[in-house]
Amino acid sequence: DKSDKNIRELMYRGLSAEYVLILERAGEVAARLGYKVFAAGGIVRDLLLGMECLDIDLVVEGDGMELARALSLEYGGRVRVHPKFHTATVYFADGRQVDVATARVEFYQYPAAMPQVETSSLHQDLYRRDFTINAMAVSLNKDDFGDVVDFFGGREDLERGLLRVLHNLSFIEDPTRVLRGIRFEKRYNISFEPQTLKLAREAVQNNMLARVSLERVWEEIRHLLMEPRPSLGLARLVELQLWEYLFPGVLYAANKVVLDELHLSIKVLRSWDLEEPDEPWMVYLIAILHQTDSEKAREICLRYHLNKRQLEKVSAALKGWRGVMEGLNHPEGLNTSVLARRVMNVPRECYPLILAYLVNYVTRRRFRQVLTAVFYDKPSINGKDLRALGFKPGPAFKMALDAVWQARIDGLVRTKQEELIYAKEYLSGYEGAINDV
Ligand code: CTP
Repeated sequence: DKSDKNIRELMYRGLSAEYVLILERAGEVAARLGYKVFAAGGIVRDLLLGMECLDIDLVVEGDGMELARALSLEYGGRVRVHPKFHTATVYFADGRQVDVATARVEFYQYPAAMPQVETSSLHQDLYRRDFTINAMAVSLNKDDFGDVVDFFGGREDLERGLLRVLHNLSFIEDPTRVLRGIRFEKRYNISFEPQTLKLAREAVQNNMLARVSLERVWEEIRHLLMEPRPSLGLARLVELQLWEYLFPGVLYAANKVVLDELHLSIKVLRSWDLEEPDEPWMVYLIAILHQTDSEKAREICLRYHLNKRQLEKVSAALKGWRGVMEGLNHPEGLNTSVLARRVMNVPRECYPLILAYLVNYVTRRRFRQVLTAVFYDKPSINGKDLRALGFKPGPAFKMALDAVWQARIDGLVRTKQEELIYAKEYLSGYEGAINDV
């Protein structure tokens, strides 16, 4: 029924006020230019699911670049046009970004002799998309603001939990859609509809993915690794026989248990209030590679063009994670400072892996102690204090403060006074550092 078709209320409830404002403004500007404008793709899907959506993708029946310019002129923002694709991006002052596409009528005009087919440029634009659940739009013009446009039954598929391509050539046109599909399956807990699954399997059998650049493939993998539960998607890659192509020479079975548990480790670490990893996808990449020999692991990283810094991080993780884990499990118990050194040699991105290997509560708590020492425990004295003791500033200062830090986390010194004495003893061993003590 009509009321069901309009999701205006859902938009007001589900989107931030600023977001809604941009959508309404786009509608006003379009009306003035004599165009129709729609928000398309992820936004409708996420609104209907009650999930957060941050992207704004507009489709204009008319000149998208012109609409983008008018929008930015009027409401302040910069615009960047891509004439080749008739698209534009508007960057608003608050950091928000809107992508504007042109639905191009001229491409799809039917011959005059053909009967009038009920179609539109929006229809054609949506038809080029990957799955029905992503091929819905919502009107932004004032008179029908919030009306859902759903040519392909996306809403019903969404309700039934089905991921369905719009036509049989979809995976041939763009084989990365198989990977996108896996990501959506797990993110929204839905499944490939049988015919779509068959087409996906065919695309895999015909090795379609090999036709896509490894950069694009990596982009998809990276996105998959940033989902809340990447292990589900990774298991699906194995099922669909994509694993060996994506991670040649890497054994999945050996890693499965750890991969399945990693999201729990991440959760625990989050509760420890440490800084989050800079590159969340790397947590999973490290776990995927952690049993692989370093040469092969490196090949995988190079295959996907990880940059030098990323390469170094992954390799430090693969080299050092076991040392941390075994150190924490050491029967005699190692000093905190020894463990801290080992921890400092691996990137944050491999803490979840280490934690996944710590099976008992005692070693887990020890890990937390060490991490806390590494991140939060600082000596209470500084270079000024050392100068006040009469020492000459120099490279020895840094070493002395480091020694104090070690002594402190090992519990050898507790008060500022004890730290000063410790530093004094340390520096007295350095000729030339002594001034007039
Ligand atoms: N799309 C496609 N084929 C691709 C990539 C994208 O058909 N290989 C279409 C999809 O229909 C999607 C739209 O382009 O809705 C925008 O793409 P993107 O922003 O990547 O997708 P979202 O659906 O917004 O997904 P996410 O939430 O992961 O950003």
